[in-house]
Amino acid sequence: MNVIVVKNYEEVCQKGVEFFIEQIQKKNNINLGLATGSTPLGLYDKLIEWAQEKNADLSHVTTFNLDEYIGLPKDDPNSYYYYMKEKLFDPLNLSPEQTFLPDGRATDIEKECQAYDQLIKDKGGIDLQLLGVGVNGHIAFNEPGTSFSSNTHEVRLAESTREANSRFFSSMDEVPTHAITMGTGSILEAKEIVLIANGKNKSEAIQQLVEGPQSEDWPITALQSHDHVTVIVDEEAASLLK
Ligand code: F6R
Repeated sequence: MNVIVVKNYEEVCQKGVEFFIEQIQKKNNINLGLATGSTPLGLYDKLIEWAQEKNADLSHVTTFNLDEYIGLPKDDPNSYYYYMKEKLFDPLNLSPEQTFLPDGRATDIEKECQAYDQLIKDKGGIDLQLLGVGVNGHIAFNEPGTSFSSNTHEVRLAESTREANSRFFSSMDEVPTHAITMGTGSILEAKEIVLIANGKNKSEAIQQLVEGPQSEDWPITALQSHDHVTVIVDEEAASLLK
């Protein structure tokens, strides 16, 4: 595992976006795995800045998101579809044919989960996966206790995760209780993974990842088994490391 400690959030995003730009430039066809939440926003802004400045051709880029709430329509500002469209896909002019998320309004959620894993396989797998991490060590919505070999599946969100995410909703009641998430096992199939984190509240999860024993109690520690993981953290998120 390659651990890079930088000064602040700005530098986390700068270092992180360099991995994405390099891969986008290098490969003829590239499948990117993407995340939502607050952490990737600065990285996405930098990617947009680069693409606009260079007038970059992104027709060879396909994206797959990690997760989506169950029950929110696509035009709900809190759906991950809406977030991605607004924060990244529209500014980059990525078409719906290039951008995929699990469908949280599917009538048969189990079938949707299987179809999502199959779609990723059919498209050749994820080349570079971006991850954030939850305070409790979750990756995507794989909460503590999730099997490291899980495929894309439906989850009941931990109350702590709902509380953390309630900052985006007008009340706690509006925060969905369930989501579709790529499984830990599906994430580990990515050829390369870049995890970014900032702030003191992520320091325990980062410590578990870098120094802790591998345990399903800390989903992030699954990444210890992957050969191509880069962890980019600011000084606060790295503050518990020896
Ligand atoms: C979102 C996702 C989540 C977030 C995590 C951290 O697609 O997969 O695991 O990465 O909840 O969220 P932020 O970045 O808001 O602290």
